[in-house]
Amino acid sequence: VRNGEFEDPRLVAVYDVLYPWARGDDFFCSVLDEAPGASVLDLGCGTGRLALGLTARGHRVTGIDPAAASLAVARGKPGAAAVTWIQGTSADAPTSAFDAAVLTSHVAQFLVSDGDWTATLADLRRALRPGGRLVFDSRDPRARGWQRWNPADSRQQVTLPDGSRLDTWVEVVAVDGGTTGAVVDFLHSYRFGADPEIRSDGTLRFRSEEELRGSLAGAGFEVQAIYGGWQREPVGHPDGELLVLARRG
Ligand SMILES: C[S@@+](CC[C@H](N)C(=O)[O-])C[C@H]1O[C@@H](n2cnc3c(N)ncnc32)[C@H](O)[C@@H]1O
Repeated sequence: VRNGEFEDPRLVAVYDVLYPWARGDDFFCSVLDEAPGASVLDLGCGTGRLALGLTARGHRVTGIDPAAASLAVARGKPGAAAVTWIQGTSADAPTSAFDAAVLTSHVAQFLVSDGDWTATLADLRRALRPGGRLVFDSRDPRARGWQRWNPADSRQQVTLPDGSRLDTWVEVVAVDGGTTGAVVDFLHSYRFGADPEIRSDGTLRFRSEEELRGSLAGAGFEVQAIYGGWQREPVGHPDGELLVLARRG
């Protein structure tokens, strides 16, 4: 399956077990809480972990995602009625409706081609009010994080809520590029108990800080800060992140 984590109900069912609330969510909350009660677009909201967290903190949240199976899980969670859920992409975002837009857990990297990324930035600019903030995470290619995407380093063995066992790992299929930017193809394997393995493949784009700055400037955003770590450390921090805070010009 392609992008099965988000599209295949069997894998979406375990997404929140494998990816619970983490440092990234605290980072995005700390940035957005600088403007209480904001109207926030969560693009690529997935199963809604952060969208619901932001709603509980008093923000008004719209979550957009193309994956129907992920949105179905989000809509079924406590408090979900307070969020506006839209199945679609940035093209489906309303115009001049938001004080802030976020893409979290590396959604920006799923926009692999330059064309898709440029179009998404243009849509986000249109969806934001003048002065609105754009905040997202993207892994720094200089950290070469994909080198740890191998069965030994990535293996997770978890017990699911029903007591059954899940064994999962990821491996890299191809890397095109290097420290100044890369496209990485990968394959996730999921083994539920003694069932046959389910495999899900995907592709992520790693943009360099320079590529991100150039694309944001071209789309009419002013970059306020780019951090390298979740505690707002400088770029080059071992967290290996590029955490972008920009404003619609
Ligand atoms: C790693 S998940 C992150 C989900 C959520 N933000 C979180 O923190 O758990 C990536 C999400 O990006 C979504 N996605 C993929 N392509 C997209 C696109 N073109 N526009 C918006 N979202 C997209 C996927 O469906 C998936 O839900």
